[in-house]
Amino acid sequence: MRKNIVAGNWKMNNDLKATKKLVKQIRKSIKKTDLKGTRVIVAPTFVNLITAVKGSKKSKLEVAAQNMHQANNGAFTGEVSAEMLKSVGVKTVILGHSERRAYFGETDALLAEKVNTALAHKLEVIFCFGEELADRKAGKEEAVVESQIKNALFHLEANAYKNIVLAYEPVWAIGTGETASPEQAQDMHAFIRKTLADTYGSEIADSISILYGGSVKPANAKEIFGKPDVDGGLIGGASLNANDFHAIVTAF
Ligand code: PGA
Repeated sequence: MRKNIVAGNWKMNNDLKATKKLVKQIRKSIKKTDLKGTRVIVAPTFVNLITAVKGSKKSKLEVAAQNMHQANNGAFTGEVSAEMLKSVGVKTVILGHSERRAYFGETDALLAEKVNTALAHKLEVIFCFGEELADRKAGKEEAVVESQIKNALFHLEANAYKNIVLAYEPVWAIGTGETASPEQAQDMHAFIRKTLADTYGSEIADSISILYGGSVKPANAKEIFGKPDVDGGLIGGASLNANDFHAIVTAF
């Protein structure tokens, strides 16, 4: 059965000292909590992954990377490979975040390659996608989401999905303070699950965790996570504060 997940995407925030501190705070707060099976993940920037992995040892806190390169190794100055992530104890990678798509030109085709590489190295993938405001205004949000998922993932065999988590993040809700309503999130998540079921069958579709991302805060997490097809959240801004993050982790 699918798991509830709360993942903090720290983006380009938190230096070494701040990473140590926040990891320690989160570790401490989840130790005292009945997580009811909820997985808790943080994704610091590359240079602080080792510190975060060390700081979360022997705790329930997991560490993910925010990105990786599609090639196994080679002359790609400034890039980080799947093997490198594995070698420092990272088991999960976020791919396809809208900021990577918008600012770094990541396309569906490139993301399909990255997904393949990550899975080949036995990394779990948190795959992000979501429509822009103009798409939603034009009533095209389902078509956009469907094509993003199909283009990057639907070449995969069914058994690959045990290592994939989906994160629906409407671009208009990321970092804007504007959240999709719980109903909008539920409608889209149900659509995503149906799209998966149509191709891979309901067993796969029902077993995959689908996270919502976009201005999730302590004040709205409970309502959003309360929807049947929402299995947690990918949290940006609110994941930088230990108390806010903990309130979201315990919102189920
Ligand atoms: P936000 O970011 O929570 O700050 O809106 C979410 C994300 O980008 O994953």
